[in-house]
Amino acid sequence: MELQLLQQGAEARVYSGRFQTRACVVKERFSRSYRHPTLDTKLRQKRTAQEVRSMMKCRKHGIATPSVFFVENEKCRIYMENLVTCHKLRDVINRCQRDGNATELLAIAVTIGEMVAKMHDIDVIHGDLTTSNFMIDSNTQQLKAIDFGLSSQSSMPEEKGVDLYVLERCFLSTHPNTEDLFQLILDTYKKESKNSASVIAKLDQVRLRGRKRTMVG
Ligand SMILES: Nc1ncnc2c1ncn2[C@@H]1O[C@H](COP(=O)(O)OP(=O)(O)OP(=O)(O)O)[C@@H](O)[C@H]1O
Ligand SMILES: [Mg+2]
Repeated sequence: MELQLLQQGAEARVYSGRFQTRACVVKERFSRSYRHPTLDTKLRQKRTAQEVRSMMKCRKHGIATPSVFFVENEKCRIYMENLVTCHKLRDVINRCQRDGNATELLAIAVTIGEMVAKMHDIDVIHGDLTTSNFMIDSNTQQLKAIDFGLSSQSSMPEEKGVDLYVLERCFLSTHPNTEDLFQLILDTYKKESKNSASVIAKLDQVRLRGRKRTMVG
C-alpha cells in the first residue's frame, strides 16, 4: 500500500492511504530510541490500544470520531476513516474570526460543549483537547473528535476538570478574544453534563494551581 506522509508528530506519524477501496488515514506510533526497546514497544502498543478503545467507545455512544477500519498492533498502526471533507477546527475558527462570522462561532461553541459533556458522561477523558484535535465537516458542519492518543478512562471530576483546562488554555493561547466563546462552551457543558458541578469546581482549582505555578516559576 502506498502511504503519503501527512503529519509528523512527536510520537506518531499520520499518513494518508487506502484501506481496500476506502480512503484512509494510517496513524503509526514510531519507536523512540531513548526508551528501552521492550518498554518502548509495550508503551506504544498500550497507547495504540487505548486510542482505538476510546474512539470506538465514543462512536458507540454517538460521538463522532473516525471509524476504525483495522489495527496492526505489532506495528502500532491504526487504519481509520479519512475525514476528507473536514477541516481542522483551529482553521475554521480563524476563518470565522477573520470574516466576522459570530453566528457560526456560537454554534461551534455549543457543539463543543455538548460533545465534551457527552464524552465525560461516558468517562472518556480525551487528554489533548485542542482545536487541532477537532474537525468540522464542511458539508454538514458536524463536529468530529480525533487524536485519542493521550486518552484514558476515568470517572474522576479532577481528570475531567484538567481536560477542560487544557481546552481553555488552547482557546486563550491560540485564539485571541475567545473568552466569551469559551464561556459558552462551559455553560453548555454545565447544562449537558451529569456531574458538571464537581467538574467545574475542579477546573477552578486547576486554574488556581496553574496561576500559582506561573507566579512562582
Ligand atoms: N482521520 C483523519 N482524517 C483526516 N485527517 C486526519 C485524521 N486523523 C488525523 N488527521 C490529521 O493529522 C493531524 C495529526 O493527527 P493526530 O492529531 O491524530 O496526531 P498527533 O497530534 O501527531 O498525535 P499525538 O498527539 O498522539 O502525538 C490532525 O491534526 C489532522 O490534521
Ligand atoms: Mg493532534
